[in-house]
Amino acid sequence: MCGIVGYIGNKEAFPILIKGLKRLEYRGYDSAGIALLNGDLNVFKKAGKVSELEKITNGKSVGANIGIGHTRWATHGEPNDVNAHPHLSQSNELAIIHNGIIENYAAIKAELEKRGYNFQSDTDTEVLINLIEEVRKTEKSSLEDAVRVALNEVVGAYAIVILDKKDPNHLIAARKGSPLVIGIGEDEFYIASDASPIIEYTQNVIYLDDQEYASVHRDGTYVIKTLGNVEKSHAIQKLELSLEAIEKGGYEHFMLKEIHEQPKALEDAMRGRMNALQGWIKLGGLSEYLSRIENAERFVITACGTSWHSGLIGEYLIEDLARVPVEVEYASEFRYRNPIIKESDVVFAISQSGETADTLAAIELAKERQALIYGICNVIGSSIARVSHAGSYTHAGPEIGVASTKAFSTQITLLTLIALQIAQSKGTISTSRLRTILYEMENIPKKIKETLELDSQIKELAAIYKDARNFLYLGRGYNFPVALEGALKLKEISYIHAEGYPAAEMKHGPIALIDEEMPVVFLATNQSAYEKIVSNVQEVKARKGKIIAVVNKGDTQIRALADHVIEVPETEEVLSPLVTIVPLQLLAYHIAIMRGCNVDQPRNLAKSVTVE
Ligand code: AGP
Ligand code: GLU
Repeated sequence: MCGIVGYIGNKEAFPILIKGLKRLEYRGYDSAGIALLNGDLNVFKKAGKVSELEKITNGKSVGANIGIGHTRWATHGEPNDVNAHPHLSQSNELAIIHNGIIENYAAIKAELEKRGYNFQSDTDTEVLINLIEEVRKTEKSSLEDAVRVALNEVVGAYAIVILDKKDPNHLIAARKGSPLVIGIGEDEFYIASDASPIIEYTQNVIYLDDQEYASVHRDGTYVIKTLGNVEKSHAIQKLELSLEAIEKGGYEHFMLKEIHEQPKALEDAMRGRMNALQGWIKLGGLSEYLSRIENAERFVITACGTSWHSGLIGEYLIEDLARVPVEVEYASEFRYRNPIIKESDVVFAISQSGETADTLAAIELAKERQALIYGICNVIGSSIARVSHAGSYTHAGPEIGVASTKAFSTQITLLTLIALQIAQSKGTISTSRLRTILYEMENIPKKIKETLELDSQIKELAAIYKDARNFLYLGRGYNFPVALEGALKLKEISYIHAEGYPAAEMKHGPIALIDEEMPVVFLATNQSAYEKIVSNVQEVKARKGKIIAVVNKGDTQIRALADHVIEVPETEEVLSPLVTIVPLQLLAYHIAIMRGCNVDQPRNLAKSVTVE
């Protein structure tokens, strides 16, 4: 959600800011802006894409070697030119960019209005910069002190960068609940909401912690302090990200690239963590806390969106293989319904970005109640990874497309490994069954590759159904969460209404929707309950629904009933989601492209949702 870039040094800031904002586009936004300081403080901002912002700067003076840039995802006030960031303080001396929400902005605004402040925008951000200005004025303090005092007064989440017209040698950045990275070059600093705008300039970075701020200076010096005014020293970390990993590499869209990266992503997720021949699984994070995890009375899995869907698959895997009761909770619901959490509980928090505010809040609550937190994240060094007691990275590589694909399949891979390691250690799985599953896991990347070869067949299907107004996705057992995820993919990027349902539950309601207009996608690769799925297919056929069935190669029974079949390689049922999700990702992708949608940045969506 929303992006931040700041630069101070000897280079031209404008191209760095624009390029950085473009690298952050994947996060989802609705307007963009920059402020450049070169004697004058020039602000350019525009609703719409960064390319629109570039257009309005044509022919304008953009020379400067200090500046800040922002992509906004509106929370307070419409996404229009005025509400776009940067925002200026009343005196026009301070400029701010802000990710997040100031929850008590209304009270502060009322107070500032009494003191004569006028507001140009509807944003909470403009309130914050004026609060900082007011503190600086009334307390005659330095900007740094004013920022600290003001931030101690606000409630909410933020990552901010502030530019002071009177001080062209200095930027201030602060964070609470929203990530901020500082790239350190030769007498220059890059500040960004994630590392993607920084990697082509430097690999040396510092991740600010919550409730910290940094003052960076043109002479290459910097200071990091807590909001309690205590100086902190952070080790400089090396970025492991490569530039190539965040570019499209010949694919038309990031989403398509990421779908195709799944075989490799799964190999990376498994590498060094299991050996089928020798029959072992060893996840570093899990091994460290194994006895506590093994003795847990129950597990809670908490996540949002696609990660929540992989959590559901995790529930099936863990209960099936390791025989521990699991509850899967939407992080947003978990947080606010006063859940029962005991010290003996283990909470698995799943998040691609590692920055999802709802998931972070759920973790906070579970941590307060002494549960062990195990994070499963993709982004290295992300907030969730850092607040968890233990955890495992999915190693999917950067996922830029807003619609999650390879993160989902690597999360399931990790959950399978977790279930197996606990099962092995508790003795709930036989050695031969364990080996069978591990051998088959090694085969999965190849089976996904085979499934990816169905691309042109799926494209033909997409052409037939691209104008449908609704879609139903049905599956049972391990394929039920896949149905949910298939439906989510389609609605996110093609804006077609889609529902995922347990196949047998259809007759309790959604069956009313079925007529000759309704495409119904069946996930029908199950070995168990296969006959039951066949009956569900019959029920849809009897009502003239259009049946698209994902089946195992060689299936004849469903082929005879369905309008279309997508044949995927057969695998162990516990691993089937890793294969059956692939055609659904491709179907959503092709339908969205045929409808002219922006698949990588679908409307209204953000890649990492940093507001609750
Ligand atoms: C997936 O396609 C979505 N865009 C979304 O549901 C996402 O999975 C959700 O916001 C959770 O994100 P996270 O995994 O980064 O926590
Ligand atoms: N709350 C701020 C606004 O609505 C910042 C939103 C964002 O994170 O982009 O402008």
